[in-house]
Amino acid sequence: MRTYLVTGGAGFIGSNYIHYMFKKYGDDIRIINVDKLTYAGNLENLKDIEDKPNYTFVKADICDGEAIMRIFEENDIDRVVHFAAESHVDRSIKNPDVFVKTNVLGTLNMLNAAKQAWENEDGSFKADKKFLHVSTDEVYGSLDNLTDYFYETTPYDPHSPYSASKASSDFLVKSYIDTYHFPANITNCSNNYGPYQFPEKLIPLVINNALHGRDLPVYGDGKNIRDWLFVEDHCKGIDLVQEKGVLGETYNIGGHNERQNIQIIHIILDTLQEMLDDSDPRKALVSEKLIKYVTDRKGHDRRYAIAPDKIKAAVGWYPETCFEEGIKKTIKWYFENEDWMANVTSGNYQTYYEDMYKDR
Ligand code: NAD
Ligand code: TYD
Repeated sequence: MRTYLVTGGAGFIGSNYIHYMFKKYGDDIRIINVDKLTYAGNLENLKDIEDKPNYTFVKADICDGEAIMRIFEENDIDRVVHFAAESHVDRSIKNPDVFVKTNVLGTLNMLNAAKQAWENEDGSFKADKKFLHVSTDEVYGSLDNLTDYFYETTPYDPHSPYSASKASSDFLVKSYIDTYHFPANITNCSNNYGPYQFPEKLIPLVINNALHGRDLPVYGDGKNIRDWLFVEDHCKGIDLVQEKGVLGETYNIGGHNERQNIQIIHIILDTLQEMLDDSDPRKALVSEKLIKYVTDRKGHDRRYAIAPDKIKAAVGWYPETCFEEGIKKTIKWYFENEDWMANVTSGNYQTYYEDMYKDR
């Protein structure tokens, strides 16, 4: 039975990935999920699988060398899928230090532990061991021109402390591939949306605020463009790359679904109106009047857009869920999981929200 070590599996994409993998492989795989449970990690995301005999949760920091090495010593890990990171650009602008610590030093620690566990005496690596580093399209910087796209060959040009820390971690992975022939891949994905996303990111924040009749903060002119991908399509891409990709290669994952932020907000408002019952009191709250233009994010990247040609050709990946369908699935999930949203927005979230938006 193949054993996966998933880092950051209690977060948004990591928990979707764990669900996806158990749905796809059932009891043919074993998953160990290592997560520090920061504000973004939530074991509620995994409560329906937590009792599976082939699933184990370990609460640990990826920067903790001993704790990570112990997992490798006690288990014959075949695959590492490395999601754990600080992931929110606005937080990185306020507090860059933890981004460098977790995203750069944490990745270095994961690389060192896997290298130590997998390397033979002659410097080669044990057969069929693979490390996948989950990264972002933000490392490529910002596109000004509507006809340009990010390719795997696009030079790195990160602007925020978040993207700079992810770029640094990518370079570390690349250096292990080049120097040691370390068996790794990197995936650079566009903006994800879907179930279990923490409401600091645009889409769940807008859904949650609209349903409560709260302001919908639009940074700058609202015309910044992101290339939105339904999270399950990202998970499928990660698995395909690890199964069929060429070791050492980088693959961009994105869906040719570029939209301005203001367009996203209008789609969410329209979809909420369509999906809410006339008798539902929240229907009256959902309104374009909630849209509030606020001070722009510092260093706000204008446009991201992925060219997924390489991953399509190499492993046959394509985005299966169009945005209109994906946003309905997402909103339906938030309707059915009101308690989840209530739990994650209680306590510290209030302080965060106040701090992030009060002077905008
Ligand atoms: P997230 O913030 O929802 O989850 C991050 C998880 O990592 C949380 O469970 C958190 O507890 C855990 N974590 C943080 N620091 C840790 C540490 N020091 N040790 C152990 N665990 C720690 O993030 P996400 O949106 O699920 O993103 C996952 C990965 O995908 C990240 O590497 C991110 O850069 C990348 N990515 C995200 C997107 C996106 O749109 N969300 C797009 C492309 C790439
Ligand atoms: P976000 O979800 O934070 O992802 P990222 O910054 O990694 O792309 O933001 C997506 C876009 O939405 C980005 O251009 C910033 C913008 N945005 C707002 O306009 N208002 C908000 O309240 C948030 C959180 C984001």
